[in-house]
Amino acid sequence: MGKIIAIDGPSGVGKSTISKLLSKELGYMYIDTGAMYRTVALLAIEVGLDLTDGIKVAELCRSLSFSFHIEGDTVHVLCNERDVTEEIRTHEMGMHASIVSKHPSVREVLVSLQRGLGKQHDAILEGRDIGTVVFPHATFKFYLDASVDERARRRYRELIQKGEKVSFQEVRETMKLRDLNDSTRAIAPLRPAKDAILIDTTRMDIPAVISEILWHVKGKKTKKWK
Ligand code: DC
Repeated sequence: MGKIIAIDGPSGVGKSTISKLLSKELGYMYIDTGAMYRTVALLAIEVGLDLTDGIKVAELCRSLSFSFHIEGDTVHVLCNERDVTEEIRTHEMGMHASIVSKHPSVREVLVSLQRGLGKQHDAILEGRDIGTVVFPHATFKFYLDASVDERARRRYRELIQKGEKVSFQEVRETMKLRDLNDSTRAIAPLRPAKDAILIDTTRMDIPAVISEILWHVKGKKTKKWK
């Protein structure tokens, strides 16, 4: 098995942007596990499944395969060869993903797919339970955090830029609800692994977070990134 870098943390903390840039910098494969839960929610809705029916949703998961391809600044998410990149990135699908991710049977299938993908290459996996469950022996584990206001601001900016019609209050409330769902669920709740390196990004920009991660990964010799 190659090297594994686990990047965990709550929604809106910047995991995707940071993981994507790190994967380019280090030449590691990038695996966005949140995108997998989002895709399962999208497909389940398309075929008319009840998202609270864990057995049926897990059955659907067993027929899926995933791959990720970086093109310019975009990470394309392919599920059974279909490009779902745009459709899964909505505010609504984030909430639906949080619901399907509560089912142990769904997690079991996706965790097994994530381990399979991660074993193919040096890889960066981002999510909620990478350092605690998916790869508890990851080479490096980082847990990114930021205040709820700062995370809501970042996510709001991103959604508005994409043309979604949401209010800041709505984004903030949904974020709090997802934090609660993700951190209180019975299986694989959002929490830092005991041996994770914690980074509070509230007052850090992206290059500063990447510099800090690279400082750990490259043997503490790296100076400022960009
Ligand atoms: O990171 P994201 O916003 O794309 O994740 C969407 C949802 O998927 C999130 O609310 C919780 C769930 N998730 C999870 O339970 N475990 C992961 N490893 C990644 C995401």
